[in-house]
Amino acid sequence: MNDPDSIKQRIDDNVIPTYSRFDLSLTHGEGSHVFDADGKSYLDFGTGIATACLGHSNPELSAALAEQAGKLTHVSNLYYTEPQGLLAEKLVHMAGGSGKVFFCNSGAEANETLYKLARLRNHEEGQFEILTTLGSFHGRTLAGIAATGQAKVKEGFAPAVEGFRHVPFGDLDATREAISPATGAILVEPIQGESGIHCATPDYLAGLRNLCNERNLLLLLDEVQCGHFRTGKFFGWQTIMSSHPDFSPDACSMAKSLSAGLPMGAVWASEPLQDVLGPGTHGTTFGGTPLVSAHALKALEIIERDDLAKNATEIGGYIGKQIEQLIAAYPSVLREVRGLGLMIGIELSENIKAFTSSKKPVSLQIVNCLHEAGLITIPAGAKVFRLLPPLNISKTEADKCLSIIESVIKKLAS
Ligand SMILES: Cc1ncc(COP(=O)(O)O)c(C=O)c1O
Repeated sequence: MNDPDSIKQRIDDNVIPTYSRFDLSLTHGEGSHVFDADGKSYLDFGTGIATACLGHSNPELSAALAEQAGKLTHVSNLYYTEPQGLLAEKLVHMAGGSGKVFFCNSGAEANETLYKLARLRNHEEGQFEILTTLGSFHGRTLAGIAATGQAKVKEGFAPAVEGFRHVPFGDLDATREAISPATGAILVEPIQGESGIHCATPDYLAGLRNLCNERNLLLLLDEVQCGHFRTGKFFGWQTIMSSHPDFSPDACSMAKSLSAGLPMGAVWASEPLQDVLGPGTHGTTFGGTPLVSAHALKALEIIERDDLAKNATEIGGYIGKQIEQLIAAYPSVLREVRGLGLMIGIELSENIKAFTSSKKPVSLQIVNCLHEAGLITIPAGAKVFRLLPPLNISKTEADKCLSIIESVIKKLAS
């Protein structure tokens, strides 16, 4: 049953190859570990790209899921269901206590909701355009790749959806200059994830807020990867702007770990925008099903009860400091560490001798070496690998991750 070759072969033969998969066939998980078909254990510091935020096979989540599955799985948004309302209320509370939420299934779909919200709000003024940033990633739909500030995702898919232009991330002057009479909104990731963990500064986000206020533009934030307590507060912007308590975007998107590993996306829209998308303007069959909402509610309950936001800040800070020491010890391999809380990017030197014989990006090569050593991490761009562990990671597990990284780096440096 668990023969790794047949697991792999069946997928290679039958699944459209949109992903270059690592040579790992994973069969089950427990806590912060996953296991391959040969029974080898891996410490999971990838969590399915920042998604399984409470690790694997969490007994409380499994019980909540089973209980809800025994009651009501899906009925559609034609009707009222309790878990969806409870979750919406919770998310509105997390966003500051006002506004409303829309539920969908993925990050790309949550961002589509932002584009439609911005277009509808601005259509009478003809302000259909959204400025986004270079290096950003907003998903794989046609509008998502148009919004994304990376050429590689767009190749072959022209003509692009109209109405997106890109400006350098962090550059307020360039953003101000790029605003045209057609511009209606600015969309940024508080922490760019896919392109290598680049954090917005408080001055940048405050400057964008001021600019949007001055020019009557919407400030939209993509919280898909950096949200849901990964940085220590529910939203990444709440961590970055902790000394600006009045800061708030006009709307933001969520997905990934929102339902701790089940597919769920959402958009929070502030009060002035909360009713722009009325009946018939937008929707999705699976958005906010009782099953996925109950799972998300239980995940939020566990995160709050166990103070995992504090854990993310403390363990994330600890890992960051330890990586800095590794950078000082192995400068020929490691360049820089960036991030907030448990969203950590480690940049590699491009000239690692052991990697020069392969054309593969160094980020992929190190992730493969770490797999061999029993640690799962995620590449980000060509030179960076990401640590995105579960929020309930222990200090012992953090130390295990650090010692695996050191053992691999030591070999590469020698
Ligand atoms: C910041 C950001 N936005 C949007 C997306 C797209 O999310 P999904 O893959 O759920 O469509 C991602 C996925 O990596 C992301 O990191």
